[in-house]
Amino acid sequence: MSAPRKLHIKSYGCQMNVYDAQRMVDTLAPEGFVETASIEDADLVILNTCHIREKASEKVFSELGRLRVAKDEAALRDRRMEIVVAGCVAQAEGEEIIRRAPMVDVVVGPQSYHNLPQLLARARTEGRALDTEFPVEDKFARLPQPSRQAIRARGISAFVTVQEGCDKFCTFCVVPYTRGAETSRPVARIVEDVTRLADNGVREVTLIGQNVNAYHGDGPDGRPWTLGRLLHRLAEIPGLARLRYSTSHPRDVEQSLLEAHRDIPAVMPFVHLPVQSGSDRILAAMNRKHTAADYRRVIDRFRTFRPDIAFSSDFIVGFPGETEDDFAATLALVAQIGYAGAYSFKYSPRAGTPAADMQEMVAPAAMDERLARLQDLIERQQHAFNRAAVGSTVDVLFERPARNDGQIVGRTPYLQPAHVMASEDIIGQVLPVTITRHERYSLFGTLPANAGAIPRQTRTPALTGA
Ligand code: 5AD
Ligand code: SF4
Repeated sequence: MSAPRKLHIKSYGCQMNVYDAQRMVDTLAPEGFVETASIEDADLVILNTCHIREKASEKVFSELGRLRVAKDEAALRDRRMEIVVAGCVAQAEGEEIIRRAPMVDVVVGPQSYHNLPQLLARARTEGRALDTEFPVEDKFARLPQPSRQAIRARGISAFVTVQEGCDKFCTFCVVPYTRGAETSRPVARIVEDVTRLADNGVREVTLIGQNVNAYHGDGPDGRPWTLGRLLHRLAEIPGLARLRYSTSHPRDVEQSLLEAHRDIPAVMPFVHLPVQSGSDRILAAMNRKHTAADYRRVIDRFRTFRPDIAFSSDFIVGFPGETEDDFAATLALVAQIGYAGAYSFKYSPRAGTPAADMQEMVAPAAMDERLARLQDLIERQQHAFNRAAVGSTVDVLFERPARNDGQIVGRTPYLQPAHVMASEDIIGQVLPVTITRHERYSLFGTLPANAGAIPRQTRTPALTGA
């Protein structure tokens, strides 16, 4: 048997990319590849790129410059290093990468990862290979099922893609072009994946998709199922303690999803619901197809169904034409909603999107200033949210040893990291923790005296109904 070849994946961006990276590892494992943490050791380096990052393609080209040096050094030691560019920059700028970066062997878009072994073989005979097609066939069907080993490596919390692509066409966003039209995986496949994960000790599953609550995969009854219905089905899987989903669009929040939050204890009361701006004028220019009032109504509906629910969001500051008044409306919306946390970005044009042709760019200094003010407000809200937990007892799903000696870290229902002094036996359990203090992003607390001794199953919350 030949020695295993070593594979290093550097992933940027969203959870979809984290998941895709694992799928690429699974696809290449039968070819004899094992993962390595070091680029220098690698026979194959995959850059799993994200187009949403600011100056995304420039960053990819400068990363490739560094990789060329590593590739040259490997060649001096008589070793071949292959370089693959994957992800959304590959999809959007594949031809350009091939033209400008001769050290790249393969460029592969997110729809074509199942072709990686063939593409590498083609690159070895033909020099280069590019695959950024949107195939008509179902790419989900062709990827290997996650291997047992891969599942364990992912620990007790796992991501499962349930839908991909987006039909919303926000004017700033490349996703509809790089990830294509919205497609949903059939219910049966997702149930299979989640069952296998749960059988291997995974206790929390996050369903992911660019527009996850647009989910409409075929159900076993041959009809399209909503995300809410899917959550009800997945909650029946033994061993699973927590279900989450991300990222949601305010326009696609429907009744069955709200009911899932009300009726299923495993569905966590924390929703990432990007709004992007609080100004109706800017929301219209972004083609969001909702107003700030619509968004507030959606938030209120969630709260009616699940009073302890909390939210995070994404914001873009400095969208073309954004005035001080528009920005003030964003601050007002944030103040009104009260977030547990949020991500904020300065607008940056993406080639091929309608907003890239818009005039009236906001001056860089104004963008910086607005971003700082927004981030300051969001940070204060996050701080208040964490402070409010002090003195209360919250369920924590324990995931791994913390960096600090003797501490084990888990997550609250709101994804706050929570640390306790305990033995590693509690990993995988959901236990009540009394929160004693907080830092900027983390909580610290204590377990009930006998908690570590409680057998795992008795601590699993009821999974359906009350
Ligand atoms: N400029 C700035 N931020 C962007 N995002 C998407 N496209 C852009 C862009 N062109 C942000 C949005 C989205 C998040 C994933 O990235 O806020 O929700
Ligand atoms: Fe992009 Fe999200 Fe808008 Fe779809 S809904 S176009 S993924 S920002």
